[in-house]
Amino acid sequence: MPAKTKEFGADSALPASDDALGVAVSVRGLRHSYGELSTIERLDLDVPAHGVLGLVGPSGCGKSTLLELIAGLREPTGGEVALGEGLDPAARLARCAFMPQRDLLLPWLSAIDNAALALRNRGVRRGAARREAGQLFERFGLAGFERSSPAELSGGMRQRVAFLRTLVAGKPVLALDEPFASLDAITRAEMQEWLAGALDADPRTVVLVTHDVEEALYLCDRVAVLSARPARIVEEMSAPAPRAADRDEAVTDPEFVALRERALHALRGGTR
Ligand SMILES: Nc1ncnc2c1ncn2[C@@H]1O[C@H](COP(=O)(O)OP(=O)(O)OP(=O)(O)O)[C@@H](O)[C@H]1O
Ligand SMILES: [Mg+2]
Repeated sequence: MPAKTKEFGADSALPASDDALGVAVSVRGLRHSYGELSTIERLDLDVPAHGVLGLVGPSGCGKSTLLELIAGLREPTGGEVALGEGLDPAARLARCAFMPQRDLLLPWLSAIDNAALALRNRGVRRGAARREAGQLFERFGLAGFERSSPAELSGGMRQRVAFLRTLVAGKPVLALDEPFASLDAITRAEMQEWLAGALDADPRTVVLVTHDVEEALYLCDRVAVLSARPARIVEEMSAPAPRAADRDEAVTDPEFVALRERALHALRGGTR
């Protein structure tokens, strides 16, 4: 196992997934538009149970819309999105924890109560919910800020609280919209290593949107590059496996570098 799992072992504060076998994501002939504006045109995607798919694409191409469709927050104009057996929005919502691009913390709740919200929604009592969420505060670089209000936290800290809240929801599918976007480079690399270890220890099915090709290739088993709107897949690749133990080592591996170039080429409008 990669060395990074050492700091994320049996003491994991993450709840076990609802379903140990995991839930696959299947997108078939998906179409979506906002009125006249077509965002997604006949998109097919498959993420196997416990698979981690990265989505990269130009700004405004429809990535957040696609995550909202997967999470059950929007309905397709055509085609299907299924999370396991769950096709309708309520079934998708029940299986998927969504981390929106903007942190959307409740300003009147402390950081710890914001993080514990997903547990409270599952019926966990306040004290137990705070304890469970609180166990992750140190690992997220948030120790000492439990009682702070969102307004007292930096943008990066708010993003980490929102990310923590998504993880503790205990859903088998995670839809993450640029979870590390406003973190500084060092914290971002640490959080990437942490998430890789967390997913090794407690696998979930993940769809991760990011602008950072390196992040996608490091964290995901597969990466899909989307075209400009309406979004379609222009390139799809498997990340190097097994992943190198150390992030710096992983991203300088020649195979990794070649894949990064291929993804960047596709992003710039080149095709296979
Ligand atoms: N609620 C909405 N109503 C109408 N148009 C919308 C709505 N939300 C997004 N759009 C438009 O739909 C398109 C896709 O938006 P979306 O937010 O999904 O893109 P994105 O790939 O996530 O962009 P970014 O990389 O900037 O986050 C954009 O042109 C956007 O302006
Ligand atoms: Mg977006």
